[in-house]
Amino acid sequence: MRPVRLMKVFVTRRIPPEGRAALARAADCEVEQWDSDEPIPAKELERGVAGAHGLLCLLTDHVDKRLLDAAGANLKVISTMSVGVDHLALEEIKKRGIRVGYTPDVLTDATAELAMSLLLTTCRRLPEAIEEVRNGGWTSWKPLWMCGYGLTQSTVGIIGLGRIGQAIARRLKPFGIQRFLYTGRQPRPQEAAEFQAEFVSTPKLAAESDFIIVACSLTPATKGLCNKDFFQQMKTTAVFINISRGDVVNQDDLYEALASGQIAAAGLDVTTPEPLPTNHPLLTLKNCVILPHIGSATYGTRNTMSLLAANNLLAGLRGEPMPSELKL
Ligand code: NDP
Ligand code: DGY
Repeated sequence: MRPVRLMKVFVTRRIPPEGRAALARAADCEVEQWDSDEPIPAKELERGVAGAHGLLCLLTDHVDKRLLDAAGANLKVISTMSVGVDHLALEEIKKRGIRVGYTPDVLTDATAELAMSLLLTTCRRLPEAIEEVRNGGWTSWKPLWMCGYGLTQSTVGIIGLGRIGQAIARRLKPFGIQRFLYTGRQPRPQEAAEFQAEFVSTPKLAAESDFIIVACSLTPATKGLCNKDFFQQMKTTAVFINISRGDVVNQDDLYEALASGQIAAAGLDVTTPEPLPTNHPLLTLKNCVILPHIGSATYGTRNTMSLLAANNLLAGLRGEPMPSELKL
């Protein structure tokens, strides 16, 4: 019998059980995993990936030219346990003929639920209100105390009416939103019809929305899109939510807009950097709610993401169609 040559797979983090089990069942692979909940140090990653045929990574791993060089010519598949692919040097990956798997759709609902939670938490000032109960600031029911902004009859602007943007709009509709606006690279009339959403320019969306939700992918075109000009165009009563990537926002400009009262409030699930240092100026503001990038963090969703990431990797290594391959 000829000896079977196993394909080497490197996994950059401890992943949920379903993904782990799928990899463990793969008799044609030899799997090495960075067995920790914390990110792998760069040197360990370079060591682990050297000679690998497959890499299963997370959004915290920067797969750049240097890492691809460290991996070497064996590398055939990169499977990221995320829908965002801004951490991957896609041009370089394409040049090398490496296939990429990612995890769209399976996290859409969880992320849209989190976006709704963050929006309601921010516009109704829940963290401040909870703090007032704890610190004795709640002295009486007061007509003008702890007021926020309601969604009914409002205009909502969505930057990026993709899978998650649509799922957010779908959840918002029953709240009695009067008007949906959206931006993107081009109009999406079919998807927009469900919400009678109007495709507008970014300045128009900024100027006319009561609530702005950023749900686009991070690309060179969206990096820094929400900057001083953008915030200056917004209403002083408007609330800004970002569940996309921190780099879509110029955080210094956001700080100024929040601190000066240029805009009412912001809710961020994503920041730059991540984690945000605990002494960051944004954390001093009562009108800024910050979450630690938990959009997809339900047990079920993370399990499914890990299984899809594992199946993408295995299919790619075996030369089969991947369940979710990114077209490069
Ligand atoms: P989609 O690819 O379905 O949607 C991406 C959207 O971004 C599209 O609507 C696209 O517009 C829009 N877009 C691209 N370029 C621009 C631009 N220049 N200006 C405005 N909009 C633009 O992806 P998903 O909805 O599945 O995910 C979106 C992003 O959400 C991910 O890339 C990721 O970064 C982030 N995310 C964050 C999570 C979290 O935990 N906070 C969880 C999951 C995702 P067009 O319609 O023109 O193509
Ligand atoms: C993604 O998948 O891109 C999110 O940011 C994490 O689930």
